[in-house]
Parts: sequence; structure tokens; C-alpha cells
Amino acid sequence: MPVRKAIIPAAGMGTRFLPATKSMPKEMLPIVDKPVLQYVIEEAVESGIDDILIVTGRGKQAIENHFDYNPDLEIFLRGAGKQDLIEQVRDIGERAQIHYIRQKEQLGLGDAIRLGRHHMGGEPFAVLLGDTIIDPPAGQKPGLRQLLDAYEQSTASVVAVHRVPMEWVSRYGIVDGQPENGNPDLLRLRKLVEKPAVNLAPSNLAIAGRYVFSAGIFDCLEQTPRGVGGEIQLTDAMNMLAQVEPVYALAWQARRFEIVNRVEYAKCFVEFALRRDDTGPRLREHLAKLLAD
Ligand code: UTP
Repeated sequence: MPVRKAIIPAAGMGTRFLPATKSMPKEMLPIVDKPVLQYVIEEAVESGIDDILIVTGRGKQAIENHFDYNPDLEIFLRGAGKQDLIEQVRDIGERAQIHYIRQKEQLGLGDAIRLGRHHMGGEPFAVLLGDTIIDPPAGQKPGLRQLLDAYEQSTASVVAVHRVPMEWVSRYGIVDGQPENGNPDLLRLRKLVEKPAVNLAPSNLAIAGRYVFSAGIFDCLEQTPRGVGGEIQLTDAMNMLAQVEPVYALAWQARRFEIVNRVEYAKCFVEFALRRDDTGPRLREHLAKLLAD
């Protein structure tokens, strides 16, 4: 069955960005001139998925407003002769059918995904974390597209992973798996180990924030007991799924920008701004001067 739908969890509290996230969702933080979540939705659309369910929560209205029409703004822009800007502000909202569901209590990523069960209607589906931008090397397919290609070959759930320096493994969900069919980049998952100590880590393959799941994950999420902080952990449900059906891990080359703390946010913003013709040259000059002083 082809994958037609995606869930984007974006209901977290974003406490590592307070006070900015007191009234603004962290998924709406801009990277140059687009919110993080817009990059995520563009990746889904460019991967061939246009039915998207965003999990939101209290204080997240800016998300719905951003992907909706804004008649007052459009009247103003039309009056100012800025038709091109109208097209820009409408663009992504028109390329995807975006639906919303609210997570009433922040009970974790697993709980946020569980809420999508009805909308997914028993079909396989993708998950894209709303605070993570995937940046494939030039000329390569969008991150989710690479994962969907692997899904189409294996017709089983598949999670994206990337290699991290061994000393970083204790920050991530790490894969214990076995390469299959002679492809060293596609591993059959035995287990996911959450934030292992360096000497206990089964590999340096870290979960990258993109997943394709069979509908079987929902039964696993329903059976997953609440863990640390009362949260339902997605990794627990994935371990359960791997016991009853094949789950694969695709080791890809794409970089992952996790907009989860101040430093990662600043790195992503600067790097994206440096790449653009309209911002790069002046910013480069300024940074060079700043760093020389
Ligand atoms: P994180 O754990 O990185 O986000 O979740 P958080 O909880 O907002 O961050 P801190 O720790 O308070 O700073 C990864 C993704 O899952 C969503 C988040 O919005 C983020 O996009 N999420 C997390 C939910 O939708 N619901 C939750 O209960 C938790």
C-alpha cells in the first residue's frame, strides 16, 4: 500500500527555548525567513505526500494561521503592488492538505503519534518531527523521499538514522541491528536503545527524526506504558513493533538540524543564511570581521 499521509508532531512545550516559546511554538522559529515547520512540510510535499496531520496544542495557533490565508495581509500587499509576496505567503498552504489535531496533555512523542490513528485509517504513514530539518547533500532526494524508497523496497516500517561520533551516542536513540541483503545501509532492527552509555552502545547510528510506519505501530503505542515523566515513548513502541514484524533502519547521508536548543538553532540559521545569495555574502563578510576581532 503506498504511503499517502504524514503526521507531524508539533505539540511539545519547547522548554529549552523559553522565554521565546512562552507564546510562540518552537516549530515556528524562523530559519532566515521561513518557520522550521515550513521546511518540514516542504520536505513532505517534495517527497510526494500532501495529506498532513499536524499535532498541535494550546498556544500553537500561530501554526494554523501560518498555513491559512490571511485576507488582511493580502489586501495590504495587493494595494502595495506586491503580488509576488501574496504568492509566496499562500504557496505552501496550497500545496498540501493540512489537518490538525490537538494533544490535550504533553504526554510525549508516542502519545502525539497515537492521536493520528483515526486520520491514518489503517494505512502506512510517515512521521516527520516538527522541530527537525533534514538537509540532504546537493543533488540527493529529500530525506523523506529516500525513506519512502526504502519502504517501497522492503514494504516494512523503516526509520532514518545517521552516524554520529561515538562520544555523542548518549544523547540519542541508538540502533542495534543487522545489515540485510548485502546492503550495509539498510539494517533489520533488533532493538532501539535510548541514550546508551558509550561503552554499552550497540552502534553509532542515531535516530534522525523521520519514520515510515505500518499501521501496526498504533497497537504498540496503545500497549506502551507511560515511562519517564509520564510520557509514552515512541522508542518503546518501536521495540514492541520490531518483535512482531520487520522494522528497518536506513543509514542516510543527510544532515539533521535539530531545532531543540539555542546553539543548534543558531547553527542552522547561520548556515542557511550563508548559503543564500541575498544574505550570504554580507553575512559572511560580517562574520569574518566579527571572528577576527
Ligand atoms: P521534543 O522532546 O524535542 O520537544 O519533541 P519538546 O518536548 O517541545 O522540547 P523541550 O524538551 O520541552 O525543550 C520532538 C517533537 O515532538 C513534539 C514536539 O513538538 C517536537 O516537534 N512533541 C513532543 C509533541 O508533539 N508532543 C509531546 O508531548 C512531546
